[in-house]
Amino acid sequence: MLNIKILTAYPEMFPGALGYSLIGKALEEKKFCIDTIDLRKFGIGHRNNIDDEPFGGGPGMVLRPDVVEKALLSINIDPKKNSKRIYLTPSGELLNQEKLGILSKFNELVILCGRFEGVDQRAIEVFNFEELSIGNYVLAGGEIAAQVLLEGCIRLIPGVLGQSESLLEESFSDNLLEYPQYTRPKVWKDINNRLYEVPEVLTSGNHRKIKEWRYDKSVEKTKINRSDLYYKGTGIKDD
Ligand code: ADE
Repeated sequence: MLNIKILTAYPEMFPGALGYSLIGKALEEKKFCIDTIDLRKFGIGHRNNIDDEPFGGGPGMVLRPDVVEKALLSINIDPKKNSKRIYLTPSGELLNQEKLGILSKFNELVILCGRFEGVDQRAIEVFNFEELSIGNYVLAGGEIAAQVLLEGCIRLIPGVLGQSESLLEESFSDNLLEYPQYTRPKVWKDINNRLYEVPEVLTSGNHRKIKEWRYDKSVEKTKINRSDLYYKGTGIKDD
């Protein structure tokens, strides 16, 4: 079972999205568990502060290292556990599918969610937090980012996805985006009475042709939407 520990000032935000659908079912079935550690319980001084102004000036507040220390000390640490500490921040290394695969194999993930301007760098270094970002944009805090990372990891745990949601053919596994999908009705009439048909090859029953069509569509889609992946996925230099 994957043990997840979340250090956050907003424990009510969990399990959040992780309580729904296949991931929610995996939570019920105890394929993973989530404990939240409320940073506010480890505030300092009579005002119970968890953050303070940045030395050197500048906007915002910084999470105190002693608060992170106290929060970590409150967790039962099992030295036998294969555990990883992650701090979610826009200044971290970019998360990708390969990294999710690596993270999904740990027994324990301890995730620090920042709010404010950031976390005191000493805490990140002393407690060995790996800094990870979920994309080149800035959110208001790490909680949503943590759920993104965790959903991506949990679906890779064996037995979480059923046969029908198999991982075999999906975007990024071969640096090509997934081909477009179609379902019933075969001919869809919209409210303006316009007709839209499913590409004929998909209903032809010719599996070789379907495979070729899907590959071509994957390549086409990758070229349009993700030119950065196109060369990696096809070996073709784009000019
Ligand atoms: N916190 C705020 N923005 C973030 C991002 N892009 N990735 C991870 N954590 C964040």
